[in-house]
Amino acid sequence: MVLGRSQAEGACGQGEGGLLRMRARGRLGILTGGGDCPGLNPAVRGCVLKAAQAGFEPWGILDGWKGLMEGRGRPLTREEVEPIVGWGGTILGTSRTNPFQVEEGRGVESCLRHWKAWNLSAAVVMGGEDTLGVAARLYQERSLPVIGVPKTMDNDLSATDYTFGFDSSVTVAVDAAERLRDTGASHHRVMILEVMGRHAGWVALFTGIASGADVTLIPERPVPWLDLARQIRKVHARRSTVLMVASESISLEGIPSRDQDGSQKKDAFGHSLLKERGVGEILARWIQQETGLEARASVIGHIQRGGPPTLFDRILATRVGVAAAELAEGSQFGKMVALEGSRIVAVSLQEATAKLKLVPPDWWSLLNSVSAPELGSGEREPHGRAQEV
Ligand code: F6P
Repeated sequence: MVLGRSQAEGACGQGEGGLLRMRARGRLGILTGGGDCPGLNPAVRGCVLKAAQAGFEPWGILDGWKGLMEGRGRPLTREEVEPIVGWGGTILGTSRTNPFQVEEGRGVESCLRHWKAWNLSAAVVMGGEDTLGVAARLYQERSLPVIGVPKTMDNDLSATDYTFGFDSSVTVAVDAAERLRDTGASHHRVMILEVMGRHAGWVALFTGIASGADVTLIPERPVPWLDLARQIRKVHARRSTVLMVASESISLEGIPSRDQDGSQKKDAFGHSLLKERGVGEILARWIQQETGLEARASVIGHIQRGGPPTLFDRILATRVGVAAAELAEGSQFGKMVALEGSRIVAVSLQEATAKLKLVPPDWWSLLNSVSAPELGSGEREPHGRAQEV
């Protein structure tokens, strides 16, 4: 069984018991919401297999909250999920629909209506801050028995050490960065890889460190642009090429850019669509102007979100999927399963969605030790809900 944080001494709690329970516990809804990421399918698989063993009837809700609002769902069987441990994406589909944003409470009322029509006894919600934020509100405001499973390639959920999806996405980005290094070295260019990461710089940070980038730009560590230009010239003088990794969400204050007219499109949760900012391209143009060096930018974008999950993500996703079914079995609702050290624990869903996990300054000094130093002394609140950039 899954342990609460305070009970988590000693045992890991995965897969205890395991006896086939024949007692019917009703229908357990499972949905995946928000941006997809590798690991969702093994998480769904773990949840379905454990739930079926515990006596639930697993019920797939299609396309996240949108499917609950529109009454689109179907049974999930052992046979369907058994082969999906290594599949990318999500067999349930996903959306960025926010039922609380649908006019006059109609979205939430539709969710409740279909919940009742399907006779769900509980639901496991797999998502990031937005999807789980909706789950937390439905639990608190409408008493829906929900359990959260954290997923996001951004790794920015504060109540868990890692989210599945992150390891797979960074693995793909590191491969891309290394390819850029090769071609950059041949042409003696400055190569910039723009990676995803909506509020936090975890993806850029790990990609930069693991690919040996010369410069890594994350939103938490603002960089004085003149220092950056100086560093780029220095590295280029030494090695005739420069590899840079930049998060899509860094501030471009001080560099003329397209996003300063405030006209970026927003999603249903009010977040700007960051890919439209063109961070990599803006940096490349600016570097050419400031340093006279030839610069090229590549955006990895959604390539980072596809493909098979890594070993780490398959194991983590399976563990949290199974743990969520165990919480449902124990009627522990309003909780989210989380990775704490090497253990899976249960934390409050409300606590888990209250703030984001940004990159704290101790990571910056590691970055300074292994890449261009002297960059970034600016401070930003390391733990708290990030400002929209
Ligand atoms: O939240 C995950 C994420 O991949 C972010 O890193 C990125 O900014 C965003 O989703 C992109 O969203 P969409 O898939 O809706 O374009």
